[in-house]
Amino acid sequence: MYTKIDRERCIACGICQLKAPELFDYDSEGVAFGKRDDNKGTAAIPPADRIQFRSAYTSCPTGAILRSKKPFSS
Ligand code: F3S
Repeated sequence: MYTKIDRERCIACGICQLKAPELFDYDSEGVAFGKRDDNKGTAAIPPADRIQFRSAYTSCPTGAILRSKKPFSS
């Protein structure tokens, strides 16, 4: 599974970083991005982080966390 943030949809609520700090961080304006691959969505989510990912994914209020079985192409 791969993930990236749709930064246009992110309202900088910060939940994803709290739920999955290994996967997500946020910039100086609070807009989230994928930490592992600079939000490209090309680094597979490690098995150890999948539960955290699911928690973040289901908690984002705007659906800004994207997921895919294949790497995202930028
Ligand atoms: Fe933004 Fe959703 Fe995270 S609104 S800060 S991507 S939980």
